Amino acid sequence: MTVLDDLRKALGDSAVREGAAMGARPGSDMSLTGTALPRALIRPRNTEEVATALKLCNEAGVPVIAQGGMTGLAGGANPTGNEIAISLELLRGIEEVDTASATMMVKAGTPLEECQRAAADAGLFLALDLGSRGSCTIGGNLSTNAGGIRVIRYGMAREQVLGLEAVLADGTIISSMNRMLKNNAGYDLKQLFIGSEGTLGLITRAVLRLHPPPGDITTTLCAVESYEQVVALLRRAQSALGGIVAFEAMWLDYFKFNADALKLRFFEADHPFWVIVESTMGTEAIEAFLAQSLEDGLITDALIARSHAQSRDIWSVREGHPIEALPNLLNFDVSLPIGRIGTYAEACTTALKQRWPQSHVSFYGHVGDSNVHICVSVDYAPGEDMHSVDDIVYGVLGQYHGSISAEHGIGTLKRPYLHLSRSSAELALMKGLKQALDPKGILNPGKVI
Ligand code: LAC
Ligand code: ZN
Repeated sequence: MTVLDDLRKALGDSAVREGAAMGARPGSDMSLTGTALPRALIRPRNTEEVATALKLCNEAGVPVIAQGGMTGLAGGANPTGNEIAISLELLRGIEEVDTASATMMVKAGTPLEECQRAAADAGLFLALDLGSRGSCTIGGNLSTNAGGIRVIRYGMAREQVLGLEAVLADGTIISSMNRMLKNNAGYDLKQLFIGSEGTLGLITRAVLRLHPPPGDITTTLCAVESYEQVVALLRRAQSALGGIVAFEAMWLDYFKFNADALKLRFFEADHPFWVIVESTMGTEAIEAFLAQSLEDGLITDALIARSHAQSRDIWSVREGHPIEALPNLLNFDVSLPIGRIGTYAEACTTALKQRWPQSHVSFYGHVGDSNVHICVSVDYAPGEDMHSVDDIVYGVLGQYHGSISAEHGIGTLKRPYLHLSRSSAELALMKGLKQALDPKGILNPGKVI
């Protein structure tokens, strides 16, 4: 009997797929760096079936890989060909919205947008939001500790979790479905599974923390002349406007590329930086803030989105799908102390352009929470190693004491560089935890550490 026979017997034939029946989806996340399909794909229907599957795989020493919406960008859900992929797609649905405790209980395979909508229907707000909201799932969001566009106000995915249920490698179900904001009864075990990318356990359910709705959000787009002024604008917005719920910066090359491709033009002139500021303070306060910022020379132009459609247009430039068409595009996800992002961007661009004068290098991202993304597209010479770009981007980053991953995680793509952001003592502790929780090393092997 092979483990697949055991899985069929335990979960039913329809829960196990092999070969063409799997389709192409389990082969790669959105980094498109996957090179193989898993050995099989199984689709458990509930936590108990996940536990049964893990127990069987652990006994057989067969590696497994958890898969959600496959929207990751770090190769964390990509198979190498030996693993059994466990798709959480059938663990879908909202089990409860508790307005008294302002929490919602959800299954791991529920798409983020479905959770957002259920919270809104109950008069509450789920503060996690990112571009892939329609297809990413809560399980993936939590296992990668996703960031997104509301971090500056509400924190990362981790901050939205009060309780968690996860299954260990040996099939043990750890149910910590806490719904209290305060609970110091021993170790906060859920944190082991949040952000560990499926290497310490498999998340099956969660209790999410909800907030009062932020109210009407106004989107503004500001033209800024220097990175120093971007930071000054951030601090001004935080003190003058209070409730800012997004602060995103785009360097000119990024803004122009996407705006041109989308045939969107907001202002006549080009400016070195474009900043989206979103606030709930109401138009009058925002107009006063912009007028003062103009007068003080923090910004040189600005517009307030007058409709949802105009706000969508501004965000579509920021989401930047046109840039994905550039050849060999690499999308980096670094963080640095906010004041250093501008000079890092300059140094990184200089180093890349020195090596590849024709390359596209552009910067954009959350900035207000210390995170910046970098797009690099290089026309490699035949035989040239694509990793040379990583070496430059991370090499310069090391000089600035930044982190190689702000929000996308390590997956496979950043694993060779983890030592640049973590000390050997930290790495040793990570390996110790991995050994304790997954002694046979069956959970998402080859990822993170
Ligand atoms: C973003 C993704 C790439 O911020 O993290 O658009
Ligand atoms: Zn991002």
